[in-house]
Amino acid sequence: MNFYLENFEKPEVIVYTYYENEKNIKELFEGKEGQLFFIPSLEENKPHTLYFGLGDKEKITNNSLRNNCAKLLKKFDELNFENILIEKIDFSKLEEQVFLKAMLEGLLLTDYEFKKYKSDKKEDKKVKNVYINGFNINNKNDILNEVSNIASAINNARDMIAEPTNNLYPEELAKRAVEIANESGFKIEVLEEEQIKELGMNAFLMVGQGTNHKPRLIVMEYNNGGDIDFIGLVGKGLTCDTGGYSIKSHEGLKYMKADMSGAAYVIAIMSSLAKNKCKVNVKAVVATCENVIDGNSYKPGDIITSMKGKTIEVLNTDAEGRLTLADALHYIIDKQKVSKVIDMATLTGLAGSTFGSLFTPIFSNNEEFYEKFMETAKETGEDFWRMPLDERYRSYIDSDIADMKNTASAGTITASMFLKEFVDDTPWIHLDIAATASQWPVVYEYSSKGASGVTVRTIYELINKGV
Ligand code: BES
Ligand code: ZN
Ligand code: ZN
Repeated sequence: MNFYLENFEKPEVIVYTYYENEKNIKELFEGKEGQLFFIPSLEENKPHTLYFGLGDKEKITNNSLRNNCAKLLKKFDELNFENILIEKIDFSKLEEQVFLKAMLEGLLLTDYEFKKYKSDKKEDKKVKNVYINGFNINNKNDILNEVSNIASAINNARDMIAEPTNNLYPEELAKRAVEIANESGFKIEVLEEEQIKELGMNAFLMVGQGTNHKPRLIVMEYNNGGDIDFIGLVGKGLTCDTGGYSIKSHEGLKYMKADMSGAAYVIAIMSSLAKNKCKVNVKAVVATCENVIDGNSYKPGDIITSMKGKTIEVLNTDAEGRLTLADALHYIIDKQKVSKVIDMATLTGLAGSTFGSLFTPIFSNNEEFYEKFMETAKETGEDFWRMPLDERYRSYIDSDIADMKNTASAGTITASMFLKEFVDDTPWIHLDIAATASQWPVVYEYSSKGASGVTVRTIYELINKGV
C-alpha cells in the first residue's frame, strides 16, 4: 500500500473524520470512537463516503487515534477500491504534527501480512493508494518518511519472528541482521563460536551447545552523534527454546520460535535510527543460539563460570535467557563501554500471568533513566509497569554451591535480580516482553497480523531525543 500526504482528484472513496455528536445521521453515525459508516454513491463518477468517528473531541489522544486508524485500515481491506482519500481533518486538541504521526503509525503498522508460506501469495488488501489531505505543515513528508522507516523496520522484525525454527536459526538471524545493517546504514560484526569462546562467554555458549546450529554474537554500532556517550541495547536471541532437559510441555513449545523477539526488536531500533539518520550513538548486542537437546546439551545441576567471573548453578535449563543475557550485558558494558543499557527479552512466562498482554514489566536501577523512559512511553502509547528490584530478593537466587542459581520463586523479579548482578552501577532498564512482544489477545489494534513491535517506538524516540 502507498501513502501520500496530498489531495487526489479521483478517489473512489472519501473518508471524513468526525468527533462525537458532530454529525448525527439518525443515530446511525454519532462519531463514536472507531465508528465507521459507509455510504455508497449511486452516481457514477461520484465517490463513495466513509464516515470515521474519532470519539470525544476533548478526550482524543495520539494513542486512541493510532488505534482507530488501525481499525480504519482494516475497513479498507474490505472495500474493493484502489484509491482512497482521507479528507477534512480537525486536529482538535492535538498538535498537527502529533496528530499526523499517530495517524500514520496506526495506518502503516497495520499494513502488514506474512504471506511467505502461503501458496496463494496474492495480497488480501485491495486498496493500493491512500491519500491524506488537510495537513499544512512543511515537514509533513519528513514525518511520513520517518514513520515509514520505523514501520518497515518493525515489519522486518515481524517477518523474523514469524519465521519457523527450521528456517531461522542463529546463522540465519545473523545473516538477516547483516542485510538490514547494510541497507539501513549501521555497522555490524558477527562473531562465531571460536571467537565467542575466546571472549569467555561461557554462560551464553553453554545454552547453545546441544545443536549443530552454532551460536553467533551479533555486535552492531551506529555512530552519528559526535562525541556523546554510547547507549547500549541487548536483545534475547533464542531462535528456538525447547527448555532443554527441563523440557517444556507441548503447549509451551508451540510459540518458542518467537523467543528471539528481543533480538528482532533491537535490530529494528538500530535500523530505524540509522535510516532516519538520527544524531545518536548506539551499540547493540545479540547473543543468539538455540536451546535444544542432544548428548552435549547442558543439564540441570551444571555449574558454569560466566564471562564476568561469577559462577552460576543451572537448576533449570529452561531459564536459559538470563544465561545468554548475563554474558551479553557484561560484554556490552565491559568491552563496548556503553554508558547506559536497555535489554529486552521474552524472559518469563510469569510476566503474562501477572499482566496478560497489556503491560510490559519494566525494571530499572536508575530513577532518571526510568522516568525518561516512562515519559516517552506515554507519547508512544506502549504500556509498561514498574516492578521492584528490591535487594531482599537477592537471597532468593542464592545457591548452596555457586555464586547464584538460575531459578527462584517470584520468577519475573528474580530473573531481573539475576541480570542485575551483571550490570553493576551502569544505569540499566530491563524489559520482560514475554507476553507483549506478541499479544494474545491483541491489545494494540495494529498488531493483529503479527508481533506487536512493543519497545521499538519507545526506545527509538527515547534515544532520538537524547538520554
Ligand atoms: N522463553 C521462555 C519464556 C516465555 C514463556 C516466553 C512463554 C514467552 C512465552 C523462557 O526461557 C522460560 O522458559 N522461562 C521460564 C523460567 C522458569 C524456568 C524460571 C518460564 O517462564 O517458565
Ligand atoms: Zn526457556
Ligand atoms: Zn526462552
